[in-house]
Amino acid sequence: MRVLVIGGGGREHAIVHACARAGHEVLCTPGNPGIAQIARIIPSAQDAASLARLAQQESADVVIVGPEAYLAAGVVDECAVLGIPAFGPTRAASRLEGDKAWSKAFMHRHGIPTAAHHTFSRMDDARTHVQRLTPPIVVKDAGLKAGKGVTIAHTTQDAEAALLDIFTQDGAQAVIEDFMTGHEVTVLALTDGERYALTPPSQDHKTINEGDTGPMTGGMGVICPFPLSDEQLSTIRQTIIEPTLRGMRADGHPFQGVLYAGLMLTPNGPKVVEFNARFGDPEAEAVLPLLDSDLAQHALDAARGTLNPTDVQFRTAASATIILAAPGYPAEPQKGIPLSLPEPGPDEVIYHAGTTGSHAGLVSSGGRVLAITAVASTLNAALGRAYALAERTDFPGAQLRRDIGARIGAVPDPV
Ligand code: GLY
Repeated sequence: MRVLVIGGGGREHAIVHACARAGHEVLCTPGNPGIAQIARIIPSAQDAASLARLAQQESADVVIVGPEAYLAAGVVDECAVLGIPAFGPTRAASRLEGDKAWSKAFMHRHGIPTAAHHTFSRMDDARTHVQRLTPPIVVKDAGLKAGKGVTIAHTTQDAEAALLDIFTQDGAQAVIEDFMTGHEVTVLALTDGERYALTPPSQDHKTINEGDTGPMTGGMGVICPFPLSDEQLSTIRQTIIEPTLRGMRADGHPFQGVLYAGLMLTPNGPKVVEFNARFGDPEAEAVLPLLDSDLAQHALDAARGTLNPTDVQFRTAASATIILAAPGYPAEPQKGIPLSLPEPGPDEVIYHAGTTGSHAGLVSSGGRVLAITAVASTLNAALGRAYALAERTDFPGAQLRRDIGARIGAVPDPV
């Protein structure tokens, strides 16, 4: 097949890598220097209509959309107009991620377990509400914020500061939620809107500093699989994934693509922290290397409404992804830092997340710069190899967390 992947970060590198290793011809826009080594990069205007036309001009058999912003802009809808199968939800269905106030109301309507919440359109009302609460207080920007729109405020003042930040934008809404405790886990469902296959569960590490402290980031490292019992998985299927897909169909917005359920394993069972409408980043960089079947074929089947969940197969192995982030990230990432990458070994990949330039003149161009992944028979072995590869990467001033996997007691094997 000829596959067009839209996006240019670490997640899209992982998608391109999965399609290329299944033998497909892969095109990508806008791409990045790592993707350029395994796919044809096509410069293009990035609006939804131009991207759909590009897919048509290039005779793409299927389009796979990486980032949420393209979904919210309606790229899947535009592809549908031209009769091109595209893997991802329509603009209307992507509201599950793009509008947190709508998403919470959806969960409430369909009885999907999640934290109690209130939505506010006025700063004064939101401030009065937080003044009545006992911290920690969860404050979310209702709009798309690339994973950084959530503040866990440990004081009322911090909650008010987060609200001030949100209400500087016209038409902003803030969602204020109860704080939940437990392990956070990501469950991804590949779905055609009705049938679905779960990927192995994974766990991201969202704050910049070790010990889960400091500001939120897009994600600093992932382990996969996160150990869930059969009973927990069955509860997640029955109380979260299936009612969500049913609810989206009932509401007239069938959800096709990747349903990302960010869950908290609370003492009262799994509850939704957030839904996203696409592969996680960096979850994709840890989950997709374990995929044993053909991502492009699953994407095409899902887009056509004919996904067979038993076709979706994963290796029995573990993976670990370590993010190397730029100095100054997440507030003000320093750009233009020269990078020199080692040659990865078997079952190791360095995904480019925020790089630019050629192989010889590669420099950082974003906050999260590289996603370093290793796959091995055990999680400790995968962590050991990923950290060893990170050590061999020349990236002056890089920030990384050395405690990926520590929450569940994983310890990197010496390499
Ligand atoms: N890793 C969090 C996200 O993709 O939103």
